Amino acid sequence: ALISLRQLLDHAAEYGYGVPAFNVNNLEQMRAIMEAADRTDSPVIVQASAGARKYAGAPFLRHLILAAVEEFPHIPVVMHQDHGTSPAVCQRSIQLGFSSVMMDGSLGEDGKTPTSYAYNVDVTRRAVEMAHACGVSVEGELGCLGSLETGMAGEEDGIGAEGKLSHEQMLTDPEEAADFVNKTQVDALAIAIGTSHGAYKFTKPPTGDTLSISRIKQIHERIPNTHLVMHGSSSVPQEWLEIINEFGGKIPETYGVPVEEIVEGIKHGVRKVNIDTDLRLASTGAIRRFLAHNPAEFDPRKYLKESVGAMRELCIARYEAFGTAGNA
Ligand code: G3H
Ligand code: 13P
Ligand code: NA
Ligand code: ZN
Repeated sequence: ALISLRQLLDHAAEYGYGVPAFNVNNLEQMRAIMEAADRTDSPVIVQASAGARKYAGAPFLRHLILAAVEEFPHIPVVMHQDHGTSPAVCQRSIQLGFSSVMMDGSLGEDGKTPTSYAYNVDVTRRAVEMAHACGVSVEGELGCLGSLETGMAGEEDGIGAEGKLSHEQMLTDPEEAADFVNKTQVDALAIAIGTSHGAYKFTKPPTGDTLSISRIKQIHERIPNTHLVMHGSSSVPQEWLEIINEFGGKIPETYGVPVEEIVEGIKHGVRKVNIDTDLRLASTGAIRRFLAHNPAEFDPRKYLKESVGAMRELCIARYEAFGTAGNA
């Protein structure tokens, strides 16, 4: 059944687990996520980005998610809009039937320009008023995703600040977070702790200086009843990078957010963990390997089946590590 983000995260807080929120763009990702949830008895958050809506079209995405609910009626599913850039964007998703929206007022409507605190409070509060009147949850964001190594937001296309960010912008302030939640009444708060979108998060394995789990603890101490969200939380598995590069890919050395650091965050109030890049890496690695081993094969179902299997195993691993398993 379709449920709201608030319902799911309240349960997650009560029982002390986290929920991966996987981005979905196509049938294969949707199947992988649902099969993994089915096997581990996990509740599901699937989210559609602006890029996904551009790729698949909003009606196709919507029906993909509704098809998942129909095929797996015993699994609770949150249909979430990722990184909405205005209350109007959120309104359209609510009209389409999304049970949760993100109003990301940390960046302007272009998805690139950092905004003022007052602007963020204003657009987020407006989105919350509208969404709550429809029984829809809202995730806000305070602080800008960006690398504490370089000051850059990462990923070129999609959502991310343009130009260099200051250290302060990239670490959410606990006092400001308390004021923001109080003024906007968001159901969940995305915070900045040094992660960024995409595969290029860290040039070496992160340390406390580049990935601030201690900042999560400070924020959670200040607002213990607020559900925290980690964006840019792909772990960038080294084994998938090796497979991609073994079979013709060229991905330079790079590191993601270690699963054990996410698990530490979950002990301190993190309830939603956004993952997109890891599914992309697993899918591409599995397809490259299959086609290299089976050069005469041309039926897309054959190699896409490999893609589904690889993504399903990755989803199962996250559901188990985050404690989501057994909570459907
Ligand atoms: O917000 C970041 C997600 O990875 C979505 O990326 O806009 O390329 O779909 P995308
Ligand atoms: P990754 O690029 O680390 O998978 O993050 C995805 C994300 O935060 C979507 O909002
Ligand atoms: Na989101
Ligand atoms: Zn994000």
